[in-house]
Amino acid sequence: MFQTFTAQQTVLAEEVSSTSIMLASSHRSAEASPEAGSEAEAEGEAEAEGEAEGEAEAAPHPKAALVRRPDGYTPQYDERGNNPASLIEHGEALFNDVSLSTNGLSCASCHGAKGDVGFQTSFQQPFPHPVAMGTNMFGMETVHADEMVQLCMVAPMAADPLPWDSEELAALAAYVVHAQQRFTGEVEGHCNR
Ligand code: HEC
Repeated sequence: MFQTFTAQQTVLAEEVSSTSIMLASSHRSAEASPEAGSEAEAEGEAEAEGEAEGEAEAAPHPKAALVRRPDGYTPQYDERGNNPASLIEHGEALFNDVSLSTNGLSCASCHGAKGDVGFQTSFQQPFPHPVAMGTNMFGMETVHADEMVQLCMVAPMAADPLPWDSEELAALAAYVVHAQQRFTGEVEGHCNR
């Protein structure tokens, strides 16, 4: 079953959101504007309240350019979900691997060992689709599954993006597509069924 965040995961998720607000306001206060102070304060509040509504104005994350599919890149997974079980299983192992992050977290710390925790309703649509974190922190209108892996690598995992041609990225993206299809009920059970 899909669950909502536990209290601890909510704290983690809120840290991610407040990072985005901090980045957004430090960018704004750097802009030369007579009203910069009061404006930044007002916008900061509006953003805290309206985060889920997908505002496009926030400052991009410092690694924003690194999380978009690069030119000439060919994904090594199928975004419609026709991926080998071995690739999905490798993805599930990586999903639970804290060594991918610099802060002791794994993907599973926030999304559950089976990838069924803490997703928003955006996750009901097939990839690519709009995601609040992508819009607010990275200025991206839609994200592919591999780009979503990279967003969570650089933001909540505080790490560098995975190499675009790596098996790790393909495996995690294949696992994310699998989790997305379980989320909508398109496929049943967990990967190890
Ligand atoms: C500190 C908590 C945290 C960690 C760790 C984390 N995420 Fe996320 N993740 C989030 C939050 C918060 C969202 C909701 C983002 C949104 O909807 O804007 C999210 C959303 C997602 C989504 C769904 C977005 C959608 O609606 O399509 C996927 C897929 C995802 N994360 C994958 C990963 C992967 C893969 C990892 C590990 C590399 C990871 N996450 C690590 C917090 C985390």
